[in-house]
Amino acid sequence: MIIGGGSGMGLALARTLLAEGMDVTIAGRSADRLAAARADLERDAQGRLGTVTADIGRAEDVAGLFDRVGQVEHVVVTAMDATGAYGRSADVTTATARAVIDTKLLGAWLVGRHAAGHVTGSITYTSGVNAYRPNGSNTIVAAANGALASLACGLAVELAPVRVNVISPGWVDTPIWDQLGMDRQAAFAQMSERLPARRIGTPDDIAQAFLSVMRNGFITATVLHVDGGHRLA
Ligand SMILES: NC(=O)c1ccc[n+]([C@@H]2O[C@H](COP(=O)([O-])OP(=O)(O)OC[C@H]3O[C@@H](n4cnc5c(N)ncnc54)[C@H](OP(=O)(O)O)[C@@H]3O)[C@@H](O)[C@H]2O)c1
Repeated sequence: MIIGGGSGMGLALARTLLAEGMDVTIAGRSADRLAAARADLERDAQGRLGTVTADIGRAEDVAGLFDRVGQVEHVVVTAMDATGAYGRSADVTTATARAVIDTKLLGAWLVGRHAAGHVTGSITYTSGVNAYRPNGSNTIVAAANGALASLACGLAVELAPVRVNVISPGWVDTPIWDQLGMDRQAAFAQMSERLPARRIGTPDDIAQAFLSVMRNGFITATVLHVDGGHRLA
């Protein structure tokens, strides 16, 4: 199950898992986005794709999601709405900051809270390089992302032997950038020059990282950085 799987890196993971013959459920808030994802994935899905409308920040939605899927081997969470969340702290509204915490941190905790008895293999959250290399315009997002590392450690103990990990991506070309109101191509070109990897990430780079931690039964309570070396740039 991929919460946030209607686009970006979650959608890339869904495509990879379906191509390998697995059953996949994707969840997100927008029925239209899920329908578009279903159309996109149709060729690989062959009846193995489920879609569920749910807001990870709402306790009843998360409970309903697990009731609906019953038993699930792996859960990956990529959900995030970045609208209004970037900018200096003085310019970010308190309501937006709360929404970031509700989605990224409390939503992640709700998934852990409802996982017992439903998840058999692993839970993987998605944080981001801004937790480790903040730039002065992403403080609340960085704080929520950083907290996911501690959440994963706590849940790895609490839910053992279910493994709980975090992937921390660097900059990746996904629809989330449409919410940031900036010249994406110029920013990507500048960042590519700075990064040791000399390029921006692709959704598939991150999908492959999710797969690695899902499949390696000895990785738990770990943050895997998949950022092209951004923490050093
Ligand atoms: N792209 C980057 O450069 C980058 C860098 C570092 C970290 N990240 C992190 O990577 C993760 C995935 O982002 P992405 O780049 O793949 O962006 P994306 O394409 O915008 O994907 C985010 C998905 O989350 C869903 N979503 C948003 N709020 C939700 C909620 N409250 N409940 C359930 N689903 C929700 C969205 O669908 P709906 O709107 O339909 O709900 C969307 O499909 C995010 O956590 C982001 O912070 C991204």
